[in-house]
Amino acid sequence: MVIVAGVFDNVAASYDTMNDFMSLGIHRLWKPLRPLHQPRPLYLHHNLPSAGWTMLDIAGGTGDIAFRLLDHATHINNSPASTMTISDINASMLAEGRKRSLATSYANSPRVSWLVANAEKLDTIPSNSIDLYTVAFGIRNFTNKDVALREAYRVLKPGGVFACLEFSGVKNPLLDAVYKRWSFGAIPLIGQLVAGDRESYQYLVESIEQFPKQEEFRDMIKEAGFVVPGKGWEDLTFGVAAIHKGVKPVEKV
Ligand SMILES: C[S@@+](CC[C@H](N)C(=O)[O-])C[C@H]1O[C@@H](n2cnc3c(N)ncnc32)[C@H](O)[C@@H]1O
Repeated sequence: MVIVAGVFDNVAASYDTMNDFMSLGIHRLWKPLRPLHQPRPLYLHHNLPSAGWTMLDIAGGTGDIAFRLLDHATHINNSPASTMTISDINASMLAEGRKRSLATSYANSPRVSWLVANAEKLDTIPSNSIDLYTVAFGIRNFTNKDVALREAYRVLKPGGVFACLEFSGVKNPLLDAVYKRWSFGAIPLIGQLVAGDRESYQYLVESIEQFPKQEEFRDMIKEAGFVVPGKGWEDLTFGVAAIHKGVKPVEKV
């Protein structure tokens, strides 16, 4: 059996290259920085307090999302005081992220901190301390997703936002058949050829298949205590991925 931490140990160095191959580059469309008048729910589109937002990117991996969020807060929301903790259970992924950060404007910045932690047990993060909790392509790997959602709820301030980018379900049966053929047929093979590791990528494909689809995941977010805006998610590329959002109510409902 493949252990999740081991999977990401194996893929840390080739992670971004593999994402490009696996998604045919589409993952880059799912993570772009949008101006405020075209907000993507994963990003901030609220007025930020002058002290900036305290952000936490869980399962942050190599820091891809975290640095985009910091850029967004700095340049779009004009909030150079916003901070980011990049957290991951896997020290190798964070080490790769740290290495990459040296080539960014956040090299050794006091605005960025790194935390090796399990999303299900964020002991060092105080309750009611975070404005924005993000998790991108991470939660499907968590052993107990409900526990992680309750931890997200605990660490967020009342009014704080939970935002999750994750693979989801394609509703159109024809497109779904094409997508399944691609993911089960090609991705493990590409993993073998590009990263020399078929087993890890077979695991990734299966974890995508097993992850709850849009409505079910929305209900899990609500079950953790969050209020969801609108229907609770935005589909990306026909539902191949989705952004789910929840807000911690100011008063418990
Ligand atoms: C597919 S990567 C996503 C990385 C990054 N968020 C991105 O979008 O590029 C999934 C990450 O989840 C992390 N992970 C898996 N289980 C975890 C857990 N229980 N707690 C925290 N991180 C976890 C892995 O170590 C890995 O870095």
